[in-house]
Amino acid sequence: MKSIRVGIIGVGNIGFAHCSCIKNGRIKGMTLAALCDIDGEKRRKLANDFPEIKIFEDGDELIRSGLADAVIVATPHYFHPHYVISALENGVHVLTEKPAGVNVSEVVKMNGAASKSGCVFGIMFNQRTDPLFQKAKEIISEGGIGIPKRLVWIVTNWYRTQSYYDSGSWRATWNGEGGGVLINQAPHNIDIWQWLFGMPSKVTAFCREGLYHNIGVEDDATIYAEYDNGASAVFITTTGEAPGTNRLEISGDRGRLILEKNELRYTKLQVPEREFCFTEKGAASTPAANEFVYKSDNPRDGHELILEDFASAVLSGTPLIAPGVEGIKELSITNAAFLSSWTGKQIALPLSEENMAEFDRLLNEKKAAETERKNAPASETEKYTYIKRWSVSW
Ligand SMILES: NC(=O)c1ccc[n+]([C@@H]2O[C@H](COP(=O)([O-])OP(=O)(O)OC[C@H]3O[C@@H](n4cnc5c(N)ncnc54)[C@H](O)[C@@H]3O)[C@@H](O)[C@H]2O)c1
Repeated sequence: MKSIRVGIIGVGNIGFAHCSCIKNGRIKGMTLAALCDIDGEKRRKLANDFPEIKIFEDGDELIRSGLADAVIVATPHYFHPHYVISALENGVHVLTEKPAGVNVSEVVKMNGAASKSGCVFGIMFNQRTDPLFQKAKEIISEGGIGIPKRLVWIVTNWYRTQSYYDSGSWRATWNGEGGGVLINQAPHNIDIWQWLFGMPSKVTAFCREGLYHNIGVEDDATIYAEYDNGASAVFITTTGEAPGTNRLEISGDRGRLILEKNELRYTKLQVPEREFCFTEKGAASTPAANEFVYKSDNPRDGHELILEDFASAVLSGTPLIAPGVEGIKELSITNAAFLSSWTGKQIALPLSEENMAEFDRLLNEKKAAETERKNAPASETEKYTYIKRWSVSW
């Protein structure tokens, strides 16, 4: 097999972009075989645009049709675990959009299905392909910052207007997507945080709902996390600040990384700080250091790279950049952050069964209390291309 036959379930903004990219032959190892959307109007448009492609109303039918070796799940988040499990149980490889789901309890089941299946399971954490994050990963993996001490990420340039929130009835609702900035925009950053710096063991958070928009979910969040080795992390995000900032700083006892304005600045200490602290006689002198600067020029779109990486994993067994089972890590931080904010408690990770159940119960309460938001007519989909707001934005 030189190319895998791919079906796409959920052909909205991102689904359209994946669809067109594969159809136009931009993805090595993938051929478009089938599409599915529950929206009849969208299916009519798709049938018009892609007359040779079979269009389904039901994702499970597409999966069972035998037309696709693999599916991409690009529906709203709540449906991700269902279609991933359905694909894996039917021997169909699957690449899900981020986040892995909304409830960690559902994603545990999804990962259980993945461990039983022999299929490839990936997740669209496209920002992992960014050259600066890749370089940071390499430096950290080689011990370049030494023992991790602190991560501080202020990513407040996920700016969204009210019109964005009004553009889809599922957006920014507890019933439609189970949260706001933490579940929609920030999953990319939270994944990069845990991918570079590891998983914290305790999370405390403050999520502010409808601070800047007419929405009932959070559009502003601050997470403080602690690690078993004494390291800490602070993560601040919002969709309500302009111009906004994207600045990631990671420090350890041997160095520091700063990522900002499309540049990675690595400061390497000549002597580890812990050693310097107890051997240096000067009271306020600091360890000597060397600085290295890396820039990123016009990298290829990360979505395309993840699609190709997934095809290669199916065709040749190469390891995935973003294995699907790792989606639970990012979502665990998010669920813990919500639970902390809702209860005022510090939440331990990995999430206990009790905490998962408590999260599910409180989210259900929020869903039940939600009143339907009036939406403006949906704006025309920015079809067929990966739009800039989905890539790393410095
Ligand atoms: N990786 C990225 O950069 C990126 C960018 C945008 C969106 N996303 C993710 O992609 C997913 C979709 O987001 P979007 O902006 O494309 O949303 P969207 O609303 O534009 O598209 C979702 C589509 O799914 C369809 N759908 C809903 N329920 C369905 C079901 N049960 N079965 C089949 N089709 C169904 C809808 O009719 C719609 O066409 C979300 O999980 C989002 O987080 C990821």
